[in-house]
Amino acid sequence: MLSTDMMRPFQTLYNRTQFLAPQIRKLYKSFHSTEYRFVKEPSTVSTFFDPVTGGILTRRVAESEHTETENEKNPISSKTPGSDYADGLKDDRSYGSVMKGNLGSGSGSRRAGFGVSKKKSKNKTTWVCSDCGYNDGQWWGYCRECKSVGTMNEFTEIDNGGKTSGFQVSENIVRSWLPKGSTGEAGPLRLTDVNRGVNHLEWRFPLPGLFGDEVSRVLGGGLVPGSLVLIGGDPGVGKSTLMLQIAALIAEGENIGKPAPVLYVSGEESVEQIGNRADRMDINTDELFLYSSTDIEDILGKAHGLSLRALIIDSIQTVQLTGVTGSAGGIYQVRECTAALLRFAKKTNVPVFLIGHVTKSGDIAGPRVLEHIVDAVLYMEGEQYSSHRLLRAFKNRFGSTDELGVFEMSPTGLKAITNPSEIFLSEEHSDSEVLAGLAMTVIMDGSRTFVIQIQALCAPGISLSKQVNGVQAGKANLIISVLMKQAGLKLQSSAIFLNVIGGATLNETAGDLAVAAAICSSFLEFPIPSNVAFIGEIGLGGELRMVPKMEKRVGTVAKLGYKKCIVPNLAKKVLQGLDFGELEILGCSNLKDVINNVFVKS
Ligand code: TYD
Ligand code: MG
Repeated sequence: MLSTDMMRPFQTLYNRTQFLAPQIRKLYKSFHSTEYRFVKEPSTVSTFFDPVTGGILTRRVAESEHTETENEKNPISSKTPGSDYADGLKDDRSYGSVMKGNLGSGSGSRRAGFGVSKKKSKNKTTWVCSDCGYNDGQWWGYCRECKSVGTMNEFTEIDNGGKTSGFQVSENIVRSWLPKGSTGEAGPLRLTDVNRGVNHLEWRFPLPGLFGDEVSRVLGGGLVPGSLVLIGGDPGVGKSTLMLQIAALIAEGENIGKPAPVLYVSGEESVEQIGNRADRMDINTDELFLYSSTDIEDILGKAHGLSLRALIIDSIQTVQLTGVTGSAGGIYQVRECTAALLRFAKKTNVPVFLIGHVTKSGDIAGPRVLEHIVDAVLYMEGEQYSSHRLLRAFKNRFGSTDELGVFEMSPTGLKAITNPSEIFLSEEHSDSEVLAGLAMTVIMDGSRTFVIQIQALCAPGISLSKQVNGVQAGKANLIISVLMKQAGLKLQSSAIFLNVIGGATLNETAGDLAVAAAICSSFLEFPIPSNVAFIGEIGLGGELRMVPKMEKRVGTVAKLGYKKCIVPNLAKKVLQGLDFGELEILGCSNLKDVINNVFVKS
């Protein structure tokens, strides 16, 4: 044990150090601050979405403490798969340098107990994932939420009372919209009180006309006031066209009441360009306002002047908020702008549409968080060489995601299709009267039915080689094997080609029977009449099995004027008693049964 006497010199040394500390600190401070006052701006404001609180955090960050990495400047654009690990290393290094800066700058070591770093310790360093928005107090080299590597970016926050905040931008603007004395915040309410006097059928705005019906169907029955809807799609698929048409419909408000202003804001095109497009599409609504801007604050400010029925932002990747870190399209900008627009929509009850670009991988560019914030995500799809466009709900807080809108891109904009079941059919399919190897079936996409044609070609001579297009190879193998083994077809010495017409993909078991029928037709050189459809799944024993939504599928072929529909026996029983007009429903128990019934000369 050390005696008190032996400890004395150490005690004295400690006391002296304590005495010196404030002076060193003062000296350092004056030196440090003078330099910064002239060399750099004292601080920048960084704002970001905090998924934990669900709010926007704005922090003033001193330049000396915030070492911005390349990733933060533009977290998305520079991302290539190979650079992930390197990014991770870069993050690591920058973390190290911040630490070094703190220790080496003379502010004192925490261990020495000077307490000088006390102010700094308030400046919380967090690591935010640029993919999912998860934040962590520590750098782990990967995101502990979504497991991506190299996506964690460093943020040093200083609690400054949140003086400037993008969130406040929308907050201030929204407040001026609300009636005097109202804060827009309400306490907990009883469900019955909330629903009292509300007619939920009239709650949504229905959009008129055929085009409006298709859009309403995807939205779950109409446009919900105060909803935030994100529309995604490949470049050039027709998002701007769709939104311009929707904007015109809402502004006209045919079955809502009087026309009311709708603001279409584009950060990509000038007002003249949008005007030109509208002219080509024969849109000349008085109440449709066009504005070209990329500043959310400015947009919401201008919107205030008009009492809007809806707001459209084309696109979320081009708008930004001043005071928020990063350039437009960057993770913080996209998130913050969306959150500000969400706030705007919820408080003012004005529905807001956002157009979002899609990256190569098919996600809406920007953080996935975007999809969590908005109420509905709709995707617009289209094949490169087809004029058909599908609008699909991917997420919908106010309706089913089973709905599908089918449109056609024409020189005068998007048109709703009156016979969507037939979009995959070629013009002239009566050819199958003479052509062998064609069979029709009905597939479902969401709640929509589509009639598709399957083609098969069995070429003799080349031993069993297969080429399939639109049908899964495994499925094709299975059906061919069942046909050989259970129906006795000698397909061993044939090359078999399978194709689904119109670029459709068969990923439903309901098409099995049609694939088998097409192969039989080609192999037996027996054309199937064009007014016969096949619906059913094939089991390994060659038996026919029931598929879901049989009634709807058979109803579709009946409506299209088909004369005969081959279904599994069980389905025939289920469908008994239902009226399908002149359609003859033929129940079969297995493949042999089908061959004996269909492929015989009458
Ligand atoms: P657009 O709405 O600009 O696509 P996005 O906003 O998704 O990038 O649509 C672009 C395509 O649509 C363009 O290739 C031409 C076609 N189009 C028509 O065929 N007819 C029309 O009336 C319009 C406006 C566009
Ligand atoms: Mg566009």
